[in-house]
Amino acid sequence: MRMRMRSSLLTTPSSLPTLRGMRGIRNIVLSHHYKPQQPTLGKDVKQALTSSRRSISSTSRRGLKDVGIKEIEAKINQSQELIKQHERQCNTTALTQLSIAECLRWKPESEKDNVMVQGYVRSVRGMKTHRFVSLGDGSSLASLQAVVPVDTNQAEGLAIGAAVRLTGKWVPSPGASQSHEMQVTRVEILGPSDAKTFPIQKKYQTPEYLRTIPHLRPRTPINAALLKMRSAAVAALTRFYADNDFTQTHPPILTSSDCEGAGEVFTVAPASNVGELTSEEGQSKMFFRNKKYLTVSTQLHLEALAQSVGNVWTLSPVFRAEKSDTARHLSEFYMLEAEMNFAHDLNEVMDLAEESLRNMCTTMYETHQVQEFLNRDSRVGSDLVNSEEVRKRWEGMMSKDWPRITYTHAIEILKEHAEKLEHTPVWGEGLTSEHEKFLAEHVGKGQPIFVTDYPREIKAFYMREGQSNPEIPAPGPTVECFDLLVPDLCEIAGGSMREHRLGPLLEAMKRHDIVAGDFHSSMDGNAPKDAKAGPLDWYVDLRRWGCAPHGGFGIGFDRLLCYLSGVQTIRDMVSFPRWFGRCDC
Ligand code: 4AD
Ligand code: MG
Repeated sequence: MRMRMRSSLLTTPSSLPTLRGMRGIRNIVLSHHYKPQQPTLGKDVKQALTSSRRSISSTSRRGLKDVGIKEIEAKINQSQELIKQHERQCNTTALTQLSIAECLRWKPESEKDNVMVQGYVRSVRGMKTHRFVSLGDGSSLASLQAVVPVDTNQAEGLAIGAAVRLTGKWVPSPGASQSHEMQVTRVEILGPSDAKTFPIQKKYQTPEYLRTIPHLRPRTPINAALLKMRSAAVAALTRFYADNDFTQTHPPILTSSDCEGAGEVFTVAPASNVGELTSEEGQSKMFFRNKKYLTVSTQLHLEALAQSVGNVWTLSPVFRAEKSDTARHLSEFYMLEAEMNFAHDLNEVMDLAEESLRNMCTTMYETHQVQEFLNRDSRVGSDLVNSEEVRKRWEGMMSKDWPRITYTHAIEILKEHAEKLEHTPVWGEGLTSEHEKFLAEHVGKGQPIFVTDYPREIKAFYMREGQSNPEIPAPGPTVECFDLLVPDLCEIAGGSMREHRLGPLLEAMKRHDIVAGDFHSSMDGNAPKDAKAGPLDWYVDLRRWGCAPHGGFGIGFDRLLCYLSGVQTIRDMVSFPRWFGRCDC
């Protein structure tokens, strides 16, 4: 990454040059004694700073281990030395800008001058001569303690919620609660706040209350940590799929069809057309000439793309008009979907789902973010599942060989324990959440489990008929599919082999009332050319020319993150949640 000279970030004087750094040391701001003809950094100093920052950034990615902290410290010291050299050459003073997470992990034995942090005041304690300010910037659950002398008038405006920039010395702290603190020499109030009306206070506030202020909720330390975790998960998965040669794609959000066939779609119409949606004539005048929907799953389009470049994936928003008022359902959520072309066996598809999740967890587990989250003070995030439990979830996800059982076998297990269950398990009916929880706990024992080969009649039209594991014969027709179950959250992913043969696909569509007509297709793909699948004609077309066996899955990304963070309801996992009856801002 290149260092750039930038002036826009600075306040005094406005034309000061900044060395915009990278992660690690954010900015090195040349300030205070700025002279218009100031020489630029010597090439050798620039190069040394670049390489030193680069290694700080890779060190901080590697996490909290002792060796990491020592390396960070050494690198920051090295950088400061280089800056001093430059200051001497140019007669300037440089400020080292750090994120709060970086600052808190830097534990020099002696005081370090000219350190700058920016963030939000989380609380202020007033003493006679000093104010103790807790500062957060979303990079860490912990706050930085800043000590501001009262007599200099610097403490004015330091109110909870204010956005501030603090400059001072980073010194070993005499207090027991923190190893280091900032002795502030300069306070800049960048965004004032009225402490009396600021809705987020340091005291306990219920999740229900916080949900009423979704635009401010991300500023709480836990919600900021969840945003960071989400971002790290996306980065890890992106790396995994890229490393395994999956092409990331952007399938559409507006679609003509209901992929899952459950009728839980939102119709899209311009505001001026809404009244005309019901009549056919009205629909023909509409923006897209007929009804269109927000996608419930991008799978069908991914299948088309997989026929172009092989294995594909996406992480897309999807929308479901389910009136489910549960802790696991949202109307808008993110689904990670992958489609593997030239895949013959459901086990290949399950292997991919399992490996991608295991890899994501293993990549993230040792990072500072996750470790800080799991080792947090029990008073922080007290509404979450306790950390020990959540740690077990991570361990389960990182373990190898997740159990795989068929639906038919699952029904047998449930029947054996029928006395413990409220709902009687019946072959041919869907598993209730009670059944799923029981299976996840008793079969999974801490590991996620795959339940495969559900009855054909209760699954979507596109699934390939057959049994992936014939060891326990099913009493009726099944499809090669799976649900991935974990305790509490139940189903976090679902996938299947797709019916790639034209004839059987049309038969399945006929059974699901998607295709009309009195025809019989043969397994070898002889199907009537005039079979009409309406808005899904294009999907049938994919089977007409060169359709190889293929399969894929969708992971409920927000449910997955709920599971790994211990957030009890999906409404608190998503910054701006939408669910039945609620779409606040
Ligand atoms: O099981 P689903 O409905 O599968 C599909 O949509 C497939 N077409 C995916 C594919 O094969 N490409 O949804 C996948 C996952 C579920 O397992 C669940 O975790 C999550 O999406 N999910 C929801 N998450 C939050 N709120 C809802 N209303 C959800 N509905 C499903
Ligand atoms: Mg499902």
